[in-house]
Amino acid sequence: MSLEGKHVLVGVGGGIAAYKAVLLVRELGRRRALVKVAMTPSATRFVGASTFGGITGTPPVTDLWDPSYPGEVHVELAAWTDAIVVAPATANLLARAAAGMADDALLATLSCAECPVVYAPAMHERMWLSPPTVRNVERLREDGARFAGPLRGPLASGEEGWGRLAEPEEIADTVAAALVGGDQLAGKTLVISVGPTLEDIDPVRFISNRSSGRMGFALASVARDRGARVVVVMGPTSVQPPPGVEVHAVRSAREMQQAVNDVADDADAIIMTAAVADYRPAEMAEQKIKKTGNKDHMSIELVKNPDILAGLGAARKGTRPALVGFAMETHDVVAYARRKLTQKKVDFMVANEASVGFGRDDTQVTIVDHDGDHPQPPGSKMAAAGAVLDRLAKLLA
Ligand SMILES: Cc1cc2nc3c(=O)[nH]c(=O)nc-3n(C[C@H](O)[C@H](O)[C@H](O)COP(=O)(O)O)c2cc1C
Repeated sequence: MSLEGKHVLVGVGGGIAAYKAVLLVRELGRRRALVKVAMTPSATRFVGASTFGGITGTPPVTDLWDPSYPGEVHVELAAWTDAIVVAPATANLLARAAAGMADDALLATLSCAECPVVYAPAMHERMWLSPPTVRNVERLREDGARFAGPLRGPLASGEEGWGRLAEPEEIADTVAAALVGGDQLAGKTLVISVGPTLEDIDPVRFISNRSSGRMGFALASVARDRGARVVVVMGPTSVQPPPGVEVHAVRSAREMQQAVNDVADDADAIIMTAAVADYRPAEMAEQKIKKTGNKDHMSIELVKNPDILAGLGAARKGTRPALVGFAMETHDVVAYARRKLTQKKVDFMVANEASVGFGRDDTQVTIVDHDGDHPQPPGSKMAAAGAVLDRLAKLLA
């Protein structure tokens, strides 16, 4: 995506990956952005200021007290820039930014900027998963910041884990998405199925599952914030849907299929996060089933429910909305998701493990599409929703 004419400030934090910020500056320049650089004092110990000066044509700002700036450098930089991208964002920098500190040129600029901010963290996995960093990332997200990465892979320590800086192209894509930000999904209608379904055995008993609906609601609220009209088809759950979305409440898999099909014609994309029951009782007893005499065993005959996603995928591509499926498994999650990708003919799948995602606010998902597997860092469901919608927006563009 071109960034022609956009002013982008690259903030460089003091981590091993600081040298990769040079490649990010080049990538942003290749997309025709006008780039300036601000470095924390620690960053200057990892990579030379002259390298950035050389490729941007302007010396980077490294000192809040630099007498060569006549005014307040942070106020001027914040006014100049259309977006700030911090790469690498160290654990220390995330903590200071989350607390609103302004004790160097980059932090002072962040503290008075009104533009979109993207953080590309890079650190050891234990730092990334430490409770303070998790809290700081969440707070920055709540304040509206976006995150690119980190990725899983070899770390500077030689270990393998989460914490690698995202690739320059991915960071630049996130900056571009942040700049079009609010209207990334404007004019699009998204149908999102949410929560469990419930299959009646008799008037007081049913078969269901532990899905809370939180992942679907996270997607609904992020899609709404990005300008989409959002239609939620939700099974029974105690979690409240976000405001500003259209809600259709259903109970069983068959009701969900009907409701999704009813709105499918208007949809640009359908995201099936609902944990739809695979089977239902062959018959629902009209009266409560009684515990009878000396019978120690009883069985309920189950019949297959319709596969809503496969039903939608059967329509010819181009004549149907984009389709995104969620695969929740207890093992071999990505392999199962890949099988479903082709069997159900969907555009991409989102795989997550039952032990990680069910009923919680955080998750770890892998996006599985026709190009490969794209594991996302562990984090909140809002963060996973952002990554899924970034991919969907690309597909719809
Ligand atoms: C060799 C070395 C490598 C480091 N790498 C990282 C890193 O990758 N990520 C990180 O969060 N901190 C890293 N640190 C710690 C930061 O440099 C330190 O927290 C510093 O205060 C960060 O400053 P800043 O946030 O102002 O840039 C490293 C420190 C050293 C000495």
